[in-house]
Amino acid sequence: MKNFEHTLVTDQQTNQQDLNQQFFEDVMAGLTASPKYLEAKYFYDAAGDELFQEIMNAPEYYPTNCELEIFTEQTEALAQAIMADGSPFDLIELGAGDAMKSAHLLRHLLDKQITFTYVPIDISGHVINYLNETLPQTLPGLQLTGLTGDYFDMLKEAAQLSERRKVVLFLGSNIGNMPVADAEGFCEEMRKHLSIGDSVLIGVDLKKDPRTVLAAYNDAQGFTRQFNLNLLTRINRELQANFNLDQFEHYPTYDPETGACKSYLISLSDQQVNFCDETILFKKDEYIYMEISQKYTVEQTNQMAADAGFKPVHYFIDSKSWFLDSVWLAV
Ligand code: AVI
Repeated sequence: MKNFEHTLVTDQQTNQQDLNQQFFEDVMAGLTASPKYLEAKYFYDAAGDELFQEIMNAPEYYPTNCELEIFTEQTEALAQAIMADGSPFDLIELGAGDAMKSAHLLRHLLDKQITFTYVPIDISGHVINYLNETLPQTLPGLQLTGLTGDYFDMLKEAAQLSERRKVVLFLGSNIGNMPVADAEGFCEEMRKHLSIGDSVLIGVDLKKDPRTVLAAYNDAQGFTRQFNLNLLTRINRELQANFNLDQFEHYPTYDPETGACKSYLISLSDQQVNFCDETILFKKDEYIYMEISQKYTVEQTNQMAADAGFKPVHYFIDSKSWFLDSVWLAV
């Protein structure tokens, strides 16, 4: 396999080169596997971020609005649930993004003069810089310590920031982008980084009418289709491949039995794609597995919590009963 050669001048460049190398290796592993796959975490380049915003605004994509409704309509109950015994705490958000939903909770806690520090964690330094710049203006008086890096590395760092009780926010059904076994492992790992009495507020998309789920991942304006195809554009640009985007089509599926909503790109012809020194062959109708967005029942989330060493203690559900934010206590 070919390596990327760069002239290294700064640490930042070294870091970027490591990321490029990792991207190259992951894409190569996925496209030479059988069946082929790509990792959904690579959807989010600048164009992918914008497309994801469009998806969230699309009428069919309900999860964001459902969770937002919980955060705007049940703010006091959410605040009470995470305040627990009233002791000061660190509110750690994994994958904070623009903190749009959590900002409602943060404002409410500030209005109530609750003592807490908000610790957003994100893999993107841009996100953390943005939050460091904007949140002190929109939420005066907020104590803020942003951390950039891997979730669990940063959870370890957050644990060393103070002796306070920890409350972890993991919103937006991000847990759904892991296959069930990985999600279970993720919850176990999260529990290992917490102590008895700490808690997690986790957002999970619930099983519902299969047509509603499928439509959310097949919006009429085609943003989800573009979101998937954009990863091929990214591979063309960053790894000098020559995918012909007209020769792949977005294919979403939802299995109401397992709750697995999956998306694929289907090859429309026998074709070959050149990628670094490799030639990747595609048969007509062959697929690339792109992403899972797993849906759960409330009972399944309870089981996952218990298996990982948590006790579910509060449930917040939107008015359509489509989305769950559950508080899990570390026991
Ligand atoms: C980020 N994640 C929770 C989204 C989801 O619903 O699985 C990503 C997404 N993929 C297609 N549409 C939205």
